[in-house]
Amino acid sequence: MLKNLLPLLLLPLCVAGTARAQKAPALNVAREFALAGQQYERMLQTHPDGKRTPQSTNPDGSMKDMPTSWWCSGFFGGSLWYLFEHTKDPKWQAAADKWSRNLTPEQTNTSTHDLGFMLYCALGNGYRLTQNPAYRPILLTGAGSLATRFHPEYGVIKSWDEFKGYSYPVIIDNLMNLEYLFWAARESGDKRFYTICVSHADSTLKNHFRPDYSSYHVVCYGPGGKVLKRQTSQGYADESAWARGQTWGLYGYTVLYRETKNPRYLAQAQHIADFYLHHPRLPADKIPYWDFDAPNIPNEERDASAGAVAASALLELCTYSGPAGKAYYQAAVTMLTSLASPAYRAKLGENNNFLLKHSVGSKPHHSEIDVPLVYADYYYLEALLRYDALRKLPAYQL
Ligand code: GLY
Repeated sequence: MLKNLLPLLLLPLCVAGTARAQKAPALNVAREFALAGQQYERMLQTHPDGKRTPQSTNPDGSMKDMPTSWWCSGFFGGSLWYLFEHTKDPKWQAAADKWSRNLTPEQTNTSTHDLGFMLYCALGNGYRLTQNPAYRPILLTGAGSLATRFHPEYGVIKSWDEFKGYSYPVIIDNLMNLEYLFWAARESGDKRFYTICVSHADSTLKNHFRPDYSSYHVVCYGPGGKVLKRQTSQGYADESAWARGQTWGLYGYTVLYRETKNPRYLAQAQHIADFYLHHPRLPADKIPYWDFDAPNIPNEERDASAGAVAASALLELCTYSGPAGKAYYQAAVTMLTSLASPAYRAKLGENNNFLLKHSVGSKPHHSEIDVPLVYADYYYLEALLRYDALRKLPAYQL
């Protein structure tokens, strides 16, 4: 989720330098938000009752919607909040409010670890932007539900209830739910939420990463927090680097550093960024193939969602990274410029009214391959907002 932008004004001047004299990048945030507004106006018209959440495109080209219990249900409302944040137009606030309140039943859902994605991206952004008191109890109840999936003996939040015969699987994606629990710790004063975050982050740092800082997708734990098996679900192979998983880790440890100021988390985020950015199979436009080790590169699908998550994460990480931040900032701008180009960004009325084309949900499951995905749009808009805030500072006018 987007943090408050005010602290960005106090950032170290990490990217100033000779590149400052270069021409302004082609990226046009106002144009991108204007188009996003037009696309999402159409999306709202095709979804009048708000019960079916826009998700993707079916193989036959038709619109794919999902129920509020699906892990992606908060992204559309979250994107509507980002449209409100950029435009200040009350029509987006009204739409975002409706699509956030739709998620209310999920506050008591204890069957998923994804409540951060589901509730915090929508209601959390709404609370940040409006302080609407109606959102707070829903968010706090949801945080309590998420915390039920943490068991001190294991030291991590359980992602799924079962995976290939193992009863305590944890996926790298789960780092993305910690931002929600940090919020809950601050808001409620209950330090247990903070303790859970740190425990989960430390175990993940220890158990989910290879020596090159790429990550496994799934780590299956046993009693005492013992690692029983490391596997993949959505990647090419157990030992491969599934692209979106790398970006969940990058974003996750960037937020962990923001929330704790623990330098280990900053170093971890930087190591993950360096794995991604220096990978020999990262294309020049910096939008990765769906797995860095997919067998038929360059004849493999790209994953725009991973590019969008990486861009957003790097635009925060650069602000903590001193001189090294310049490379992160420039890489993020390249990613956003790529995503805003006709290669990835749909024209008005195309793409079932989603913003970005060419993402991959899960190739091993033959699901959502080379399609729009609602979360690619969400992190794209978030990254544009972060870029917009940074580029107003002299140091970032590259
Ligand atoms: N969190 C599920 C995914 O990234 O596909």
